Amino acid sequence: MKQADANQDLKKAAGIRAASFVQSGMRVGLGTGSTAAFLIEELGRRKREENLQIVCTATSFSSQVLGEKAGLTVLPIDQFDDLDISIDGADEIDPRLYLIKGGGAAHTREKLVHAMSRRFVVIADSSKRVQKLGVKFAVPVEVIPCSARYAMRRLMALGATHCEIRMSKSGKDGPVVTDNANFILDSTMDVADPISMETAINCIPGVLENGIFASVRPVQAVIAEAGGLDEITLPA
Ligand code: 5RP
Repeated sequence: MKQADANQDLKKAAGIRAASFVQSGMRVGLGTGSTAAFLIEELGRRKREENLQIVCTATSFSSQVLGEKAGLTVLPIDQFDDLDISIDGADEIDPRLYLIKGGGAAHTREKLVHAMSRRFVVIADSSKRVQKLGVKFAVPVEVIPCSARYAMRRLMALGATHCEIRMSKSGKDGPVVTDNANFILDSTMDVADPISMETAINCIPGVLENGIFASVRPVQAVIAEAGGLDEITLPA
């Protein structure tokens, strides 16, 4: 089996397992990305076949559309004071369950939804495990467009070795534009201290939110490996 196909199977296994944590009556935050898409599909199946009764909110426009297509009720984030559970993928996961997210440029709404959630569960295939954040994946930083050049200089001063505006790879010429009408700066950096780096980046004027999830992090992980599922729960 090709590596990419194997990863799809692992993502699906993690998504389906995490969907089993959802029970009727729950208010659910839907993540963004290919792993979260399997979760959403499974919740839709459970609604059709098992009469699962839930209300959801989405971390991106694309997950809202996927949720609606799956037959789920998806309401705006500000209709909720809090959520029972939220489930989402990640780009990097370290041993303390600190994350880098934002590969889908959705990390600002993702952080908001997961902050509102009593139980944030991260789902992934094992390729997302790292010993230290920033090793494989650049930190995505959402900025208002007019601050991009200034913010890039400030990110370099914080230790980034490379920083660039994320450009669209398909469908659109020019920069990726987020659901909040902003740009993404991908900042290659060693994240030795996730909490202080998350805070320092968010102090740059013009930055809306960055993709280090340390102040908001999951309480539980479902990581699918070739040998089965590894489920990790942080001590309360
Ligand atoms: C979107 C995200 C995604 O959860 C992350 O990029 C993982 O995506 P995938 O499940 O497709 O590997 O943070 O902003």
